[in-house]
Amino acid sequence: MKLWGLAPLLALFIHGVAGDGFVKTGGIRFLLNGSPYYANGFNAYWLMYVASDSSQRSKVSAAFREASSHGLTVARTWAFSDGGYRPLQYSPGNYNEQMFQGMDFVIAEARRFGIKLILSLVNNYENFGGKKQYVNWARSYGQFLNSDDDFFRNPVVKGFYKNHIRTVLNRYNSFTRIHYKDDPTIMAWELMNEPRCISDPSGSTIQAWIMEMASFVKSIDRNHLLEAGLEGFYGHSSPQRMSVNPGSSNIGTDFIANNRVPGIDFATLHSYPDQWLSSSNEQYQISFLNNWISAHIQDAENILHKPILLAEFGKSWKVPGFSTNGRDLLFNTVYYKIYSSARRGGAAAGGLFWQLLTEGMDSFRDGYEIVLSQNLSTANVITQQSRRLYQIRRIFARMRNIEKWKRARAARGKRIGN
Ligand SMILES: *[C@@H]1O[C@H](CO)[C@@H](O)[C@H](O)[C@H]1NC(C)=O
Repeated sequence: MKLWGLAPLLALFIHGVAGDGFVKTGGIRFLLNGSPYYANGFNAYWLMYVASDSSQRSKVSAAFREASSHGLTVARTWAFSDGGYRPLQYSPGNYNEQMFQGMDFVIAEARRFGIKLILSLVNNYENFGGKKQYVNWARSYGQFLNSDDDFFRNPVVKGFYKNHIRTVLNRYNSFTRIHYKDDPTIMAWELMNEPRCISDPSGSTIQAWIMEMASFVKSIDRNHLLEAGLEGFYGHSSPQRMSVNPGSSNIGTDFIANNRVPGIDFATLHSYPDQWLSSSNEQYQISFLNNWISAHIQDAENILHKPILLAEFGKSWKVPGFSTNGRDLLFNTVYYKIYSSARRGGAAAGGLFWQLLTEGMDSFRDGYEIVLSQNLSTANVITQQSRRLYQIRRIFARMRNIEKWKRARAARGKRIGN
């Protein structure tokens, strides 16, 4: 392959740095084994689903292999699939062992390739069940519910969801023989993919739900980081920031208030200017993107005092006006924002593009897909970012070693002086 330059770096990275530590936060940065950690990564929601079919499982390995050869070290994926066709959870508390073994395999393979996972616990949308399925389950248990947003309010639904959290976190991995809650391959839990509650634009429903669920997760697992899965829209707690939002719609979330919840360890941001500003030209979309990211990085630093992960961004060939150059420009824009923040020790902790596929997965194409072996110009942009973030990690690690050495020398000097 063409990525020679990265191979020795990666070997060092996988064996020398990834080690076995949990990713932690220290101020506005992630830490791994005590040194700042920056994540270049990807989304691949399909990992568990594909891994649950042993004839397809090799695609998971291929995806991880290609990702790690491009320096990618974090994957975000779904640890849910509620009801419907080949689910993880057939009905509340009733699980599909074959699907769970798929998840076990994904975690074991991620570890083998030096990749950390962010596991999301439920969907806002109907794909793979989501809040609609939970609300329907509660109806079948006799609850009278009006809206899918009752997911956030109804005690029976909340009980079902908490049971799912408990089941996943306590799962014993049949491959690694480690309970999920004790496995450092998992970097973080995510409460929900893109929580939205349009029925309560005041934001108090989502705020209360995040508080309750964050403390529930922490009552089971204090090893792992937790994030809420938010897209990043500003709400009532920061009226001066509302103009940064794309459009005027209020979806019941609040970047500042929601991420201030104590159990939430880091903030997340999603960016889809091609969907959000579909009637604007590319130049305008890119300038929106620059402002959107800058505002959130500043607020993560100055108000939240937590790291921020750009957990989803991408550009679809299905949206009119698409070009590969345009996609590469979008990736470069996001990556440069992350890099320039990271370089000065800022709060941007990394970026995960949507979405990675590997060869032979045409039925999973959603317009945003990248096959690293096929989409070469974008793959190059991705590799460059892996390299740059890796170099920042090395510089910080070296500074830390110099500090340690100075402290050791000072201590020795004292002893001799005595
Ligand atoms: C990615 O590569 C495939 C195969 O060459 C091609 O069909 C597809 O159009 C490329 N996608 C983009 C967005 O460039």
